[in-house]
Amino acid sequence: AGLNWLQGKKALVTAGGTQEPLDPVRYLGNRSSGRMGYAIAQALQEAGAETILVSAPTDLPTPHGVTKISVQTALEMYDVVLGLFPEIDVVIKAAAVADYRPAVEAEQKIKKTGTSRTLELVPNPDILAELGRMKTSQVLIGFAAETENLMENAQHKMQKKNVNLLVANDVTKPGAGFGCPTNIVSFLFPDGRRIDLPQMSKLEVARHLVREIAKLLGIQTKE
Ligand code: C5P
Repeated sequence: AGLNWLQGKKALVTAGGTQEPLDPVRYLGNRSSGRMGYAIAQALQEAGAETILVSAPTDLPTPHGVTKISVQTALEMYDVVLGLFPEIDVVIKAAAVADYRPAVEAEQKIKKTGTSRTLELVPNPDILAELGRMKTSQVLIGFAAETENLMENAQHKMQKKNVNLLVANDVTKPGAGFGCPTNIVSFLFPDGRRIDLPQMSKLEVARHLVREIAKLLGIQTKE
């Protein structure tokens, strides 16, 4: 069903957790596995979209037929995504992007001294918010992975980042979030509509999302 909904469309998905280097052997990272983003890339490709996956490091195989561009840091992801954005029809920002990076990357491995030390962090650009400012006709989709006040935070993010759909998930729920093969999500729309999906595999979530993307692009999705 829905095999060619997105034929002729160009989609870009970001996935995984960015890594922000401290020195040649260490980085600041997060618990994102990349599974949700990779599942979305697969579902987009299955729906006929030309799909680019901009991925932070993960252990996952690239879905068949998908073009992968590997990045490590938030700044690298920013450059790749903003560069491609003008020619893309739909962007799904499933990556867990580091909000901060170390102010300096040490050239050599940092030595232990036996005393406490302080790490200075500087803010990374918010890629999704920047796309929200740049967007012309693109459909823009964000994620809100929250550990508290899910719906309030998600609603706020949707407005602040100017997205067409926000996927909200409580990453503390069993069966949802980082590293888990299943997810429990809600789709929020700027007009106040909300769709709560039950627990299902990340690939099934991705297929539901693809159907909503097709609708947002004005494509008939009757099966
Ligand atoms: O504000 P928060 O990080 O919770 O927003 C999550 C959404 O914003 C996700 O879609 C994530 O990919 C995106 N994001 C981004 N650049 C950042 C931080 C988050 O694109 N620096």
